[in-house]
Amino acid sequence: MTNPIQILHYNTIDSTNTEARRLYELGERGPIWIVADEQKAGRGRLGRTWHSQPGNLYSTFLFPCHTPQSKVAQISFVSSLAVQDVATHFATAAAITLKWPNDCLLNGSKFCGILSESISDSVALGIGMNITHAPPNMPYATTCLKEHAPSITVKAAHEVLAARLKHWLQIWHDGRDFETIKFAWEASALNLGKNLSVDIGTAIRQGIFKGLNDDGAMILRQLDGTEITIHAGDVRVTQPKENHTA
Ligand code: BTN
Repeated sequence: MTNPIQILHYNTIDSTNTEARRLYELGERGPIWIVADEQKAGRGRLGRTWHSQPGNLYSTFLFPCHTPQSKVAQISFVSSLAVQDVATHFATAAAITLKWPNDCLLNGSKFCGILSESISDSVALGIGMNITHAPPNMPYATTCLKEHAPSITVKAAHEVLAARLKHWLQIWHDGRDFETIKFAWEASALNLGKNLSVDIGTAIRQGIFKGLNDDGAMILRQLDGTEITIHAGDVRVTQPKENHTA
């Protein structure tokens, strides 16, 4: 029998990802889950804040990872599939879609965030999930799992998450089988084969979402037919630009 993975629980912490880094510096390599009821300095993607009041799930999985650096971005897609399984398990009636690079949407609204960070030969995979409340006034629609599954608890959600992450990490096999991950992710991808735009910080790119490349980058066919790959950005679903004729 394999040993269960250790869970370190905190009532309050700055950020479970930051704690993972501190533990790594003290010699911890994982696998270990770091879970907190509340974060005072929860971090999101692209340097944003992740609102972390009690009632939601804040967890980081620290684990050794000997994958070449070029493949580490694939872990976001592995974890999105685990999050999708949590949603499917509890929110049985909701439409679940995966938005590039690592959002999982319930009826079009975000309920989860993933922040994957490399720490030398380990990865700190931070996952925040809205269980009992969704932060208001965000620039995107938000929801929580309790709206779809009234009896859900943070503990139950974490148990499913841990089991499903283990499952998908085994399939991924340190990047040896990203094809299966890619195939499963694309099966639920928002607007695959359709028009969308991506805010890459310095510009907005628009085109048809063709799929993922082997780094997990988005392949986008622009309106002029050229294909580009995008490694980071915010996706927006857009209507195709119309051709205006005089
Ligand atoms: C996003 O911007 O969508 C990613 C949000 C990631 C939030 C989680 S909560 C647990 C872990 N600790 C953090 O500080 N961030 C991640």
